Amino acid sequence: MPKPTKMIIDTDPGVDDAMAILYAAHDTSIELLGLTTVFGNVPVEKATRNALRLCDLADLEIPVAEGAAKPSVFAPLDPAEAARIHGAEGFGPVPPETPQRTPTEEDAADFMASMARRYPGEVTLCAIGPITNVAEALRRHADFVDNIAKIIFMGGAAYVPGNVTPYAEANTYQDPHALAEVLASGVPTLMVGLDVTMQTTGSRDDFAELARRHPDHGGFLERASDAYIGIYEARGLTGCGLHDPAAVIACVKPDLFEITQEPLSVVLDGEQVGRTLPGHGSEAQICRGVDAPKLKKRFFSMFG
Ligand code: RIB
Ligand code: CA
Repeated sequence: MPKPTKMIIDTDPGVDDAMAILYAAHDTSIELLGLTTVFGNVPVEKATRNALRLCDLADLEIPVAEGAAKPSVFAPLDPAEAARIHGAEGFGPVPPETPQRTPTEEDAADFMASMARRYPGEVTLCAIGPITNVAEALRRHADFVDNIAKIIFMGGAAYVPGNVTPYAEANTYQDPHALAEVLASGVPTLMVGLDVTMQTTGSRDDFAELARRHPDHGGFLERASDAYIGIYEARGLTGCGLHDPAAVIACVKPDLFEITQEPLSVVLDGEQVGRTLPGHGSEAQICRGVDAPKLKKRFFSMFG
């Protein structure tokens, strides 16, 4: 039995973030060292509250460290934009609840760096929101670039259109400067973008079945994803993109993906701001294809 993968999930929960975190809580091939929170789907204070609530729901005794409230350079987007997709409180129609747990004193960037220092070369950082905290950890801690094993991020759209503009995916659109810094850092980095995450979808029936099999976690995800799935259905799709779960699964099952090594850069201004451009920039790994049925099966069957 191979050793579980030591992982930190940097997150802006967020409906599909909740799917990813509850999945990680069930996958014994993951040793979840902690969650770090970032603005994005909701303001960072709500992201922290929601991350703590997911730890309550999954009985996760792990640190939750709060991170950035805004992008590295740009002004934050109007929260109403993301609220249209994830709900004002981040879990769709599910009302907010005060978590039993409290966040760490350490902020996200310091937590990432101290975990990587404690386990040099062992920790995978899975970023499923704007990658602002990871760039801050690189700026603040000179040893982080050598201690962190790899960065796997949900974001970007290499050879497909974006989902916020025709060019840019939401996470990269909100903080392209942070992604540019991460790509230039030299840390082994894998992009799990819309090229693959829009091939891995979950339908209402999938979540209803999940709720039948696991009334607690599945029931929560079914309720939280109701309106989120509706947005995809309104675009003529049968289900929602399992964006963040796909990134977490890529950390432990890369063989489900077709991965290429290519130069990758990010557009930082103009009409195409936030676009991830293959073909020039720093070397990165890009998910170009995915065995969608196998990924979907792994996600939904992990809950028992
Ligand atoms: O574009 C999808 C990404 O943006 C996902 O991480 C989703 O949670 C939002 O953060
Ligand atoms: Ca997210």
